[in-house]
Amino acid sequence: MAKSRTLFICHQCGYEAPQYFGRCPGCQAWNSLVEQVVAPGPAGRPTLAKPTGAAAQPRQALRLGQVAEQLGQRQSTGYPEFDRVLGGGLVPGSLVLVGGDAGIGKSTLLLQTAHRLVEHCAVLYVCAEESAGQVKLRAQRLAVASPECWERLYLLPETNLEAVLMELEALRPAVAVIDSIQALYYPGLTSAPGSVAQVRECTAALMRLAKQSQITLLLVGHITKEGAIAGPKVLEHLVDTVLHFEGDTFASHRLLRSGKNRFGASHELGIFEMTGTGLEEVSDPSTLFLSHREAPAPGVATLVACEGTRPLVVEVQALVSPTSYSTPRRAATGVDYNRLVQILAVLEKHLGVPLSRLDSYVAVAGGLQVGEPAADLGVALAVLASFRNRVVDPQTVVIGEIGLGGQVRPVQQLELRLREAAKLGFRRAIVPPGESIPPLGLEVIPVTKLLPALCAALPDSVEESVAE
Ligand code: TYD
Ligand code: MG
Repeated sequence: MAKSRTLFICHQCGYEAPQYFGRCPGCQAWNSLVEQVVAPGPAGRPTLAKPTGAAAQPRQALRLGQVAEQLGQRQSTGYPEFDRVLGGGLVPGSLVLVGGDAGIGKSTLLLQTAHRLVEHCAVLYVCAEESAGQVKLRAQRLAVASPECWERLYLLPETNLEAVLMELEALRPAVAVIDSIQALYYPGLTSAPGSVAQVRECTAALMRLAKQSQITLLLVGHITKEGAIAGPKVLEHLVDTVLHFEGDTFASHRLLRSGKNRFGASHELGIFEMTGTGLEEVSDPSTLFLSHREAPAPGVATLVACEGTRPLVVEVQALVSPTSYSTPRRAATGVDYNRLVQILAVLEKHLGVPLSRLDSYVAVAGGLQVGEPAADLGVALAVLASFRNRVVDPQTVVIGEIGLGGQVRPVQQLELRLREAAKLGFRRAIVPPGESIPPLGLEVIPVTKLLPALCAALPDSVEESVAE
């Protein structure tokens, strides 16, 4: 039998080289060559080596109607917040990658999920980073752990991919957790575990088995310094769903977001709280991001952000003070810096507020990141309120994007946002014009420009603010 050999393939352009180059001779990209083992194919053409355990089966074409029936039976994770991010539960045979910083709680989330899942099906937890004893210690700390669950949850402390594949084939669990994909290694490759080639090969082999045997795989992925999931981009292409588990180092809440989802909407959000006994779901998250509304402070505006289909009422706080430098300082926490600079420029140009001589600090309460333009009007009114040392009515929410000409532009899902505000007891909403909203129990004030928005939010400070 002909021997398999090693090739180096550029993951940017596909160039194949017999040896490693720091720079790809094909596309000139740096560090893009990855090691790949190839076995000679039947016609002498090299084909990628198949990992052991994944037996090739002849496939038949399916009618679309049949495929839809297969996807219909989703498996609930036992956590409505997790199900929401997945688009309604786990699809059998799918690969879900959960990425996040070290220590954020990925292992805790998946161990708790495994505990809920074993009530309905067999689960294998491959702990490639920890010993079985360590996992059991953690299980004892978690509120959900019950001795009956321990009998039905299988642990495999193993890092060798071939052993993991063999155990998966022998046990045939409905769901398997791989913690983590970077700790697994394929013995056919000489590169170290966690390297690009290893991560790619291990994921591809697991995917083949998952699809053939209808095993749902939950993979833990580490995050690099730059915030991407470690391993080549191809890893994110291989899996069906990419979830990011994130949180503030100083806050106890954790956000589970869907980046890519073949079986549901992307950018969905699930919210958990890390407690002494594991993760708990937060079903009413808006209260997390609102500080004390009983004692209103100047320079605070309330806005309704939308994460996927989930509206979140959050507070944006601004502080504007005279600068002691030739260039004013601008700091943005939780909002996009460039967006803030743009809003400040619009306020200076169209309302005559001398912000180029003032330091501006803007922060979103609770450590949430609000990236969408619908937050613009909230940021602008918080800055103006701080400039005038005025309080925006704490019963008012502000929604809208600001154009460069000072106009208030429409936002998506306005009705959904207003429903959430009404549910939380807000009485007024300053919104972009154009959309007809059914009565929701709160006064809706459509505004076309910044000035009417300012009149509605801070009526007594308009004359002072407007230089024109
Ligand atoms: P872990 O799930 O090990 O993180 P990851 O797998 O993402 O690296 O969680 C680690 C952190 O969670 C650790 O710093 C302690 C904290 N934690 C709690 O606060 N409460 C708990 O019940 C558990 C199990 C962990
Ligand atoms: Mg872990």
